[in-house]
Amino acid sequence: MTFRYLGSKSRLIHQIAGFMPPPEKGAFFVDAFCGTGVVAEAAAALGWNVRINDNLNSAVISAGARLISHDQVSFKKLGGYENAIAKLNAAEPINGFIWREYSPASFDLCGVERRYFTEDNAAQIDAMRALIAKWSGERVIDKLEERLLIADLFGALNRVANIAGTFGCFLSKWTTQSQHKIVIRSRKLKDIGVQVEATVGDVFDVPNAAQDLVYLDPPYTKRQYASYYHILETVALGDEPQVQGVAGLRPWKDRASDFCYKTRALKTLSRLVQSLQSQKVLLSYSSEGHISMQDMKSELAKVGKFTMHPLGAIGRYRPNKVASSTGSEVNEFLVVVERPMVQLPDVQSRPVKTTPLFVESYA
Ligand SMILES: C[S@@+](CC[C@H](N)C(=O)[O-])C[C@H]1O[C@@H](n2cnc3c(N)ncnc32)[C@H](O)[C@@H]1O
Repeated sequence: MTFRYLGSKSRLIHQIAGFMPPPEKGAFFVDAFCGTGVVAEAAAALGWNVRINDNLNSAVISAGARLISHDQVSFKKLGGYENAIAKLNAAEPINGFIWREYSPASFDLCGVERRYFTEDNAAQIDAMRALIAKWSGERVIDKLEERLLIADLFGALNRVANIAGTFGCFLSKWTTQSQHKIVIRSRKLKDIGVQVEATVGDVFDVPNAAQDLVYLDPPYTKRQYASYYHILETVALGDEPQVQGVAGLRPWKDRASDFCYKTRALKTLSRLVQSLQSQKVLLSYSSEGHISMQDMKSELAKVGKFTMHPLGAIGRYRPNKVASSTGSEVNEFLVVVERPMVQLPDVQSRPVKTTPLFVESYA
């Protein structure tokens, strides 16, 4: 993702990568709450095979796109990647779902003028998404190419979205960027691919084995990603859900995360770390999160050797000026939990238990 994402570790990635040992043969770096995938990308750059997972399709699509190499997406039937992008940019606008629900045209439908996108941009998003779906349906592009284009569309629509950072609500006044014409840009693909497995599902169902390195970056506040990124999820799925309220939220409660509830976060994290097979777990958390670092230590030290490393301060998710004037900063930590070797049999990855929306391996 080329845009801001709550809790993204892009600003801390060099520090986090410093805790990644060189990859072991056959082992995976498991980014179990992958979000933008910036951490998985850093692991892949070190040569790790990676498994990405999130309970949002949009996150897994974005994260997966960062790992794609040239040779994996030829766009043969469209004359190459750049041509595919040019065709999307030239698509004829369609007054479809995004236009109906998320542009001022929504007023006629529900009496609320939703200003996420201008009418022109919304109709262009509908046209671009419809064309991607058509190509996929006609096998003009394969699944990986389809997801790359959807991720590129996310980048484009984020640049013109009339929001303050998330899709939790739209702004009442149009920003300058939101009035620019939407344009999809191609991205620089990787020169070399690693083995990637992608799943959409609950973190408790992510396969992992003793030799894998599992990275956990759970939400640490009450902000539910499924509601904050609802429009990306709709574009990812290409569906037309019944949306509600002023913000036009798609139903999201089935994706509500236990990590976002203060009363459940510690128990859930403890249960998660205990359930993992991997010898070593890296965990990102904030001193401003629901779980106090002291409680986390008491709980996770039961599982194995526990060390905590402050990663410095990153500006809170708000404009820098406000953050510095209130003196508030989020302090991030990287926790390492290492189980004693003897406790673990060298198990193979267990199969995925849920029915994930997709499980795919691309290498
Ligand atoms: C803090 S963000 C991860 C940020 C990511 N490391 C990055 O740098 O972009 C947390 C992610 O966890 C996902 N999530 C929340 N609860 C989950 C669950 N129970 N299972 C899987 N993913 C979950 C959210 O959708 C969100 O993308």
